[in-house]
Amino acid sequence: MVFKPEPVFRAVRAVHAESGPGPVVLLSPQGRLLDQALAERLALHAHVTLICGRYEGVDERVAAHLATEEISIGDYVLSGGELPAAVLMECVTRLVPGVLGNEESSRQESFSPSADGRAGMSGAGVLDCPHYTRPVKFEDLTVPEILLSGNHEEIRRWRRRQALEKTWRMRPDLVARAALDDQDQRMLAEIQRIG
Ligand SMILES: C[S@@+](CC[C@H](N)C(=O)[O-])C[C@H]1O[C@@H](n2cnc3c(N)ncnc32)[C@H](O)[C@@H]1O
Repeated sequence: MVFKPEPVFRAVRAVHAESGPGPVVLLSPQGRLLDQALAERLALHAHVTLICGRYEGVDERVAAHLATEEISIGDYVLSGGELPAAVLMECVTRLVPGVLGNEESSRQESFSPSADGRAGMSGAGVLDCPHYTRPVKFEDLTVPEILLSGNHEEIRRWRRRQALEKTWRMRPDLVARAALDDQDQRMLAEIQRIG
C-alpha cells in the first residue's frame, strides 16, 4: 500500500493556506540524515510542514513535487513517520528562542557550535563534557575533585579535555571534522599519546 498523492497535496495546500509557505519535510528512510545543523536550519522557519508515511511509503510525486526535502532519522526502517516526526519536532523546537528555560543550554550540548561552554570559541561538533550533580559522594562514587575547586579556568580546561576525550573514544569521526584550536590539538595529542 502506498499513500496516494491527492490527499497529501490537498492537506499540505490547506496547511499552507493558513500558515503561509515554508519547508515541507517528507520523513523517509531515504532522506538526508537528521543532524544538529539541519535542525538549526529548520528552526529558522516560522512553519515547517511534516509528512509521515506508512506501509510502503508515499507516492513518489509527493517527494518530487511537494516536499522541499526528505529527512531520515537514521539508517533503519520504522513502520511509520510519526515517531521520526516527533524526533524532528523535539530536536527543532528546543532550538527556538524561549522554548528552553536557559538559552545557553542548547548551545553547550553535543554537536553544538560550542559544546564545551566556551561561547563563541572554536570547537564545534564535539560531544558534551560529563555532568555531575549532588551528592558529592554517592556510595563510593565521588564527583571529580577539580569540580569542587572553584577554579573556573581549571574547570573549563578539564571539561574541554573530557569532551575531547569522550568524542575521540566514542565518535572518532566527529573529531576528524571538528574545528579544533591549538589548545584542543595539544590536549587531543596528549589524550591520544596516553591512549
Ligand atoms: C515502512 S516505511 C517505508 C520504507 C520504504 N518503502 C523504503 O524502503 O525506503 C513507512 C514510512 O515510515 C517512515 N519512516 C520509516 N523509517 C524512517 C526513518 N528512518 N526516518 C524517517 N522516516 C521513516 C516514512 O515516513 C515511511 O514512508
